[in-house]
Amino acid sequence: MSTNSSKKHLITAALPYANGPIHIGHLAGAYLPADIYVRYLRLKGEKPLFICGSDEHGAAITLRAKKENKTPQQIVDEYHTLNKKAFEDFGITFDIFHRTSSQLHHKTAQDFFLDLDKKGAFEVKKSEQFYDEDYKQFLADRYITGTCPKCNKEGAYGDQCESCGSSLNPTELINPKSTLSGKPPVLKETTHWYLPMQNEENWLREWIEMGILEGKKHHDPKSWRKPVVGQCKSWIDGGLQSRAMTRDLDWGVKVPLKEGDGKVLYVWLDAPIGYISATKAWAEENDEKWEDYWQNEETELIHFIGKDNIVFHCIIFPILLKKHGEFNLPVNVPANEFLNLEGKKISTSRNWAVWLHEFMEDMPDKNDVLRYALCSIAPETKDSEFTWQDFQARNNSELVAIYGNFVNRSVVLTHKYFNGKVPALKQFPHEYQSVVDQMKSHIDSCTQKLENKQFREAQNEAIAIARLGNKFLAETEPWKLIKTDEEQVAKILNLSLQIAANAAIALFPFLPESSRSLLKMLGLEHVSWSDLASVDLIKGGSKIAEAEHLFSKIEDAEIQKQIDKLQAKAEPQNKVEVDESKIEPIKKTIEFDDFLKLDIRIGTIKAAEKMPKSNKMLKLQIDLGNEERTILSGIAKNYSPEDLVGEQVQVVVNLAPRKMMGVLSEGMVLMAESSDETLALLSPNKKVSEGSKVS
Ligand code: 2FM
Ligand code: ZN
Repeated sequence: MSTNSSKKHLITAALPYANGPIHIGHLAGAYLPADIYVRYLRLKGEKPLFICGSDEHGAAITLRAKKENKTPQQIVDEYHTLNKKAFEDFGITFDIFHRTSSQLHHKTAQDFFLDLDKKGAFEVKKSEQFYDEDYKQFLADRYITGTCPKCNKEGAYGDQCESCGSSLNPTELINPKSTLSGKPPVLKETTHWYLPMQNEENWLREWIEMGILEGKKHHDPKSWRKPVVGQCKSWIDGGLQSRAMTRDLDWGVKVPLKEGDGKVLYVWLDAPIGYISATKAWAEENDEKWEDYWQNEETELIHFIGKDNIVFHCIIFPILLKKHGEFNLPVNVPANEFLNLEGKKISTSRNWAVWLHEFMEDMPDKNDVLRYALCSIAPETKDSEFTWQDFQARNNSELVAIYGNFVNRSVVLTHKYFNGKVPALKQFPHEYQSVVDQMKSHIDSCTQKLENKQFREAQNEAIAIARLGNKFLAETEPWKLIKTDEEQVAKILNLSLQIAANAAIALFPFLPESSRSLLKMLGLEHVSWSDLASVDLIKGGSKIAEAEHLFSKIEDAEIQKQIDKLQAKAEPQNKVEVDESKIEPIKKTIEFDDFLKLDIRIGTIKAAEKMPKSNKMLKLQIDLGNEERTILSGIAKNYSPEDLVGEQVQVVVNLAPRKMMGVLSEGMVLMAESSDETLALLSPNKKVSEGSKVS
């Protein structure tokens, strides 16, 4: 197995906004996989640099500050401290957890902007935006409220109505009011710096699809996750557009130009530059060169993120880096899909989440268990779901009943029969060669999966080593054999302890605290990945410590308490979270004739049922007036079949039929999808006859 390599690794994890605490979805999405990978590299003897920090800018922070009557700085100070501690509590070993409110970051981002501006990377354009004349400032969309033009409810925001979920433009609101002065805002001309992304499509396509950059092989595109490549391709295919890189706000990194007075850099030119400024801060503290990590082609840059940040890290940030010219582009962006919680989407505003700081208060010794449970269900290729019952089962039936039981038996029996001394063997017990072979095969697969960043399967292979040891002890029954054959028992226990040591090393990236305790128990403190597969890790004759339980059982009552707490604290379902930076841009303009090709009709859902073996698809029978059709629709997570019967929906009726999951789907039901992937059917706002045309 290879150990050292000269390659440097720069590993980043998305900078979390410092406007709220971290929940299990964040941990599973970006920070846990990044930490597992970094711990694995370190065990291999490499020195990856693991960078993160708080994203401390944006309108959401100023709005929260206003609501709580605090300054934005107070808000970010509070959450930076809380989140930093949560990461430490869950063993996320950043080399630095920096802040974007730091001077170093402001200067780094401003210099980056100026460099691009000098290179002519931006288009400076004027547009009209709402302005509060009393407060003398332009208003972010969230700072404007009014009556929703779609559902007529008051209190809709400039970017979205939380009652009906419609996406809005501030200019669409009826009776718009500024949330600052309470008065109607006026439209005023403003200037912004735009990045014309449409000019970058060719090289981006080559880079994403073939891993080629400037005519040279840059990375292996097959090593990228399919959903990541798919999302990028669909953006590029849809046509990239100019995007404003600045905003009219007073909290953030100021645009460093005279004409930029009162403007700040938008999140795209701010947060990812935070990776660079964090590297600089770390390098200053450690007497290293930040350029070695960003500007040396030998360094591998990898961004760990959630899927809502794919476009940001695979399109926008790479364009900025390439325009600058002196920076590496990522060799991989292993984005995760979303983690749901107890059947619903995790939602900050609805308080439907398991917050890390609260978990730590309730279950202070279960931080490793949460890492294990989250990695077991990591949403690497599709969305997955956390349930408290699954968490309990992973703990009780896997960690306690298999891993903990195996370790405990091996250590207790060694104390009982050999006074805590590892029995010395004259030679390897060949009768158990097949057990060792199986262990080696799990180790090889685990290594391979870690290299491929398939952490869920890698952890399965690592725990399989403990499972193998547990089975070995159960089958050889040394507690019976001791009466007749002490020599054989010596062989069994020696091998069991060697397997336990292997399990501790292989599981170290996933379960660092329990691995550390076990290695200590076995008298092994300094280990590396290259020690794996050895059955001579603990020397015969060496003394091991008394057995300590690595894990403890979780009772039903404790789990019920968590479920009750989640339900009790949940807010009503009528709020929709909006993150403006995640809203998809409008696709390329099409001709009216192209639009006329679509035949959209109103139909009434007559019957709906779940598709077997799918948690996404529903099979719908839709009455279109003169015919009834079967249509599959991926809305099962948002609607239960019984809620749908009788609903009127919009159907594309001239779409070529497609066979899916063995069923011919004859058309498509239209729906709106918000950036958090909530789906909503588009029903007419009064009943119309089936088959009515939509135009
Ligand atoms: O989406 C977010 O959470 C933002 N704070 C941006 C994170 S990615 C960035 F760090 F590049
Ligand atoms: Zn509305």
